[in-house]
Amino acid sequence: MEKRIAGFSRLTKTEKIEWVTRHFLNESPQAAEDLYGFWHPDQDLQRILDGFSENTLSNYPLPMGVAPNFVINGKDYLVPMVIEESSVVAAASSAAKFWQSLGGFKAKVLSTTKLGQVHFSWNGDIQKLRGLFEEIKLRLLSDATHLTQNMENRGGGIQSIELLDFTDLEAGYYQLKVAFETCDSMGANFINSVLESFADSLQSMVETHPVFADEERDLDIIMSILSNYTPECLVRAWVECPLQAMADSYQGTDVKTFANKFVKAVRIAQIDPYRAVTHNKGIFNGIDAVVLATANDFRAIEACGHAYAARDGQYRSLSYCTIEEGIFKFWLDIPLAVGTVGGLTRLHPLARLSLDMLGNPSAEELMQIIAVTGLAQNFAAVRSLVTTGIQHGHMKMHLTNMLNHLAATPIEMAAANEHFADKAVTFTAVREFLKNLRSQSGALKLS
Ligand code: MEV
Repeated sequence: MEKRIAGFSRLTKTEKIEWVTRHFLNESPQAAEDLYGFWHPDQDLQRILDGFSENTLSNYPLPMGVAPNFVINGKDYLVPMVIEESSVVAAASSAAKFWQSLGGFKAKVLSTTKLGQVHFSWNGDIQKLRGLFEEIKLRLLSDATHLTQNMENRGGGIQSIELLDFTDLEAGYYQLKVAFETCDSMGANFINSVLESFADSLQSMVETHPVFADEERDLDIIMSILSNYTPECLVRAWVECPLQAMADSYQGTDVKTFANKFVKAVRIAQIDPYRAVTHNKGIFNGIDAVVLATANDFRAIEACGHAYAARDGQYRSLSYCTIEEGIFKFWLDIPLAVGTVGGLTRLHPLARLSLDMLGNPSAEELMQIIAVTGLAQNFAAVRSLVTTGIQHGHMKMHLTNMLNHLAATPIEMAAANEHFADKAVTFTAVREFLKNLRSQSGALKLS
């Protein structure tokens, strides 16, 4: 009971920290210090960060890096990436550099439609609802004008409203499926407000329209919410070049062998879900990092991307690769519902900076940048896998993390990097190496 509390949210931040450390962190002064230690010294800024969420105690820093040398549709970009996993930014940078001299990346937005649904139960005559649907749509649209006007002025708004009948799957269950164009915003608030307005209008029409009998007046709104599955908000990113032009890319084997293995690796991710998940995880290493850097919703992006990867009933690779008539082509199709206005995109100081760094792109341009980063990441991962193996690069970064953990000095780091250049990196081996080094240098100091 002592570990439970009523009104936690009403405590000040300091009181929250005191309560948390007292009840869950053994009253550790170090724990409290750590939490206070990550407060931003600028109180105004800290207030903005606290405002993003509830019950905040502190900030949780993640590394923000950049991947230089991205050329997308002929334009140069420096891509901001927020990610905690070592090797990801290095891999993206390496792929960007590789393709820079081979014409860069290309990307194209294929569609930008977002979706929302009003789910409802009804036991009336569906033919009446269908017969009246044009009238219903006009009423829904006119009741929501105060919500849609601004978006329409920006070139967006509601694209279509469909009435779907699911009664063969669930008794009395119907749906309004609504398509939206939300321009440069991700549009969640806009979509949800419009859907709730549609739900109210639909319900009141059924309650009052003379076409319905008394026993048909009871329409039950279950919920109104956007769908994070947006297969029609789709972007394609690709690279292509003659095989011969890639000659420098392969390591220790000829370019044809490299490219064929690469195609096979992508093909395996098409046919085997176990491999596909890891393959796509590599794509999301890049995608999530840019999505986070620009304060977009990475949970929505992930959920949608994985559903899209399973759109034919089996989970498959999101990327494809072919070699046809000597041309290597590698591409990725992915739905990305992102925004460059609204949400936290301009509120979070570092998201704002990320967007500035990218030249303040439109949502469509950001879709292209994010898809390209995912493709670059995938290229770098599969290239490593079919040549040197992934541990080669990973272990270098891993070694740095271990050395930091063991508080290695810059001199010790340099010695360790040299020592482990051709040896297996394990935590025990690194700790032993440092122990020996330190005892030697202690001996040296003593002598
Ligand atoms: C590691 O974060 C990502 C990879 O496993 C991706 C892949 O296997 O393609 C290297």
